[in-house]
Amino acid sequence: MPNTLEHESDTMIYLDNAATSWPKPESVYQTMDEFLRRKGGNPGRSSHSMAVAARETVEETRLLIARLINASEAERVIFTLNCTDALNLGLKGLLRPGDHVLTSCIGHNSVVRPLRKLEQQGVKVTRLPPCPEAGVMSARDIEEAITKETKLVVVTHASNVTGVIQPIEEYGVVARKYNLIFMVDAAQTAGKYPLDVQAGNIDLLAFSGHKGLLGPPGTGVLYVGNRVDLDSLREGGTGSYSELEEQPATLPYRYESGTVNSVGISGLGAGLKYIFGEGLERIHAHEQYLIDRLIEGLANIPKVTLYPAKDGFKQAPILSFNIEGYEPGEVGAILDQAFDIKVRTGLHCAPAAHKTLGTYPLGTIRLSPGYFNTAKEIDLTLHALGKIAKAGKLSRQNRESSLEPVKRLR
Ligand SMILES: Cc1ncc(COP(=O)(O)O)c(C=O)c1O
Repeated sequence: MPNTLEHESDTMIYLDNAATSWPKPESVYQTMDEFLRRKGGNPGRSSHSMAVAARETVEETRLLIARLINASEAERVIFTLNCTDALNLGLKGLLRPGDHVLTSCIGHNSVVRPLRKLEQQGVKVTRLPPCPEAGVMSARDIEEAITKETKLVVVTHASNVTGVIQPIEEYGVVARKYNLIFMVDAAQTAGKYPLDVQAGNIDLLAFSGHKGLLGPPGTGVLYVGNRVDLDSLREGGTGSYSELEEQPATLPYRYESGTVNSVGISGLGAGLKYIFGEGLERIHAHEQYLIDRLIEGLANIPKVTLYPAKDGFKQAPILSFNIEGYEPGEVGAILDQAFDIKVRTGLHCAPAAHKTLGTYPLGTIRLSPGYFNTAKEIDLTLHALGKIAKAGKLSRQNRESSLEPVKRLR
């Protein structure tokens, strides 16, 4: 069990960690405060002590990320604004008209939309559906869809809708066999599952710093492997090679133009240290316990339809479901207003995944526990959902009055 943290409110329950993790470890708040007060120079831009201290902090976080994903060189870790920014850099820096891309139908809009834009510019995209019996794309389907023009396989590690973990190790083997670039969106798994870019044949790995890595918003990472030659999307000051009018080719500067989010990166470093201190196994075990408890509890509530990972497939701490008689948004509003429970509802920026699941256009209710949630919070949420499901048969007015006493009880 994680250390108990002091929350702003002792009754609010936050179950939206797939959107962004909350709370952060105390050390993240403290490190960012300390950084801004004492080390707030511009990293790499000057030689005075404040700038040097800022640079050391940024480079220390880069090393921690390299260790997390087993990157051979830290400079291959590029800091970005978020996972979306990292995915855009990887996709648009790599693909040219005529190139062919293979991807899955359960991706997030941060992959879907850049690919749509690239399609308009002449890139060809094949979207492979998951096998119905597995709920994930099969490596054999990837192999069969490869053409002479195929350059890239890009997949989401864990779906942010169902939590299903796709077998990226198998995809990586196929990609390497055909000498393709392999890119993984690990937004929902970084900090929760082991990621090894060398063993996994991963050439481009994108993830957020503000989700499982417990850093602040405004942080993300793209790992760029040595088989990839990406174009930069932004050119500008890097603090190095200032005599050059062209963007320096040296990593990480080639892709890090302008002042980086140094305070955010300092917080990300504190988040990573916290994760290394606790250990991925311990974090995973606790979150797995919470998600299993949720699945078991929800399966016992009449009128609930669950969309978990299929048997035999791993489930990230993300769970989608619906309650008969309610639109997902209604349940989210009741949970928030009557029970002070924060969840996400709707399409979760992944309409294609909902089309595959059959929950388009209204989507689902999504619960995503994190390391700081407790079993008690899960039980309170199940209790609230039981009440909501039971009240579902009533008219809206009766439903509201039947839920009102629950609010006072909490
Ligand atoms: C699977 C997946 N990819 C990408 C993203 C985008 O992450 P960010 O908000 O850091 O840009 C998300 C965000 O929820 C996600 O779930």
